[in-house]
Amino acid sequence: MMSRTSSSIFFSFLIIQCLVVVCFSQNFGFFYLIQQWPGSVFGTEQKSCYPTTVKPATNFTIHGLWPYGIDGMQPTYCKPHNHFKRSKMSGLNSRMQVSWPSLACPSGNGIKLWSNEWDKYGTCSRSKQHEYFEAALKLKDKIDLLQILKKSGIKPDGKFYNLFKIKDSLRGALGYEPGVFCNDEKSGKNNQLFQIFICIDPSGSKVIECPGLPDAGIGCASKIKFPAF
Ligand SMILES: *[C@@H]1O[C@H](CO)[C@@H](O)[C@H](O)[C@H]1NC(C)=O
Repeated sequence: MMSRTSSSIFFSFLIIQCLVVVCFSQNFGFFYLIQQWPGSVFGTEQKSCYPTTVKPATNFTIHGLWPYGIDGMQPTYCKPHNHFKRSKMSGLNSRMQVSWPSLACPSGNGIKLWSNEWDKYGTCSRSKQHEYFEAALKLKDKIDLLQILKKSGIKPDGKFYNLFKIKDSLRGALGYEPGVFCNDEKSGKNNQLFQIFICIDPSGSKVIECPGLPDAGIGCASKIKFPAF
């Protein structure tokens, strides 16, 4: 596991590289599977909207499956001519609506979000469109974060939990420590559990040790709230 300092350096490096234009490189070494807690998406200053399709469950949802280079660079829009096609989502739509809903405003059915995710990120993986989204759904089903945390007594009950306990619980179940991100709740300055970054091999099927993590401490206090949803 990278230390806090070296992971900060890793991401400073990333930003510098992006400024130096190599952001568009097709360099791909691993994925970040990012899951988010809807209670922390809705409970902030930023406006969010329920999807037009299904009401989000009391569960984590997918925020993204983002290809990254081992060197910390994030390639985007790798195949400008390979646009998202609805016809390539056959058999996935209802699972996508549950596991990867759009929580942005105005309310939508998810198509706009998935289209953007494919064009911007998916095209930089080695997968075809259907494979890419199916891989994300399979990972989501395999990595039941809510269940993992519940087993360690960490529940979305609006109480505060020790950040290290959350990380320990996840490391124990996943084999490797994920990145934990926080944001601030709407009223007041409470820090809350927002997103969890898990590193995935390039085939999109298994958890690997993170070559680098966005600074795992960023935005998180030592005790963070797990808001109800
Ligand atoms: C949460 O999502 C996981 C993975 O998709 C699923 O297996 C689990 O049943 C869901 N839990 C609840 C409480 O909906």
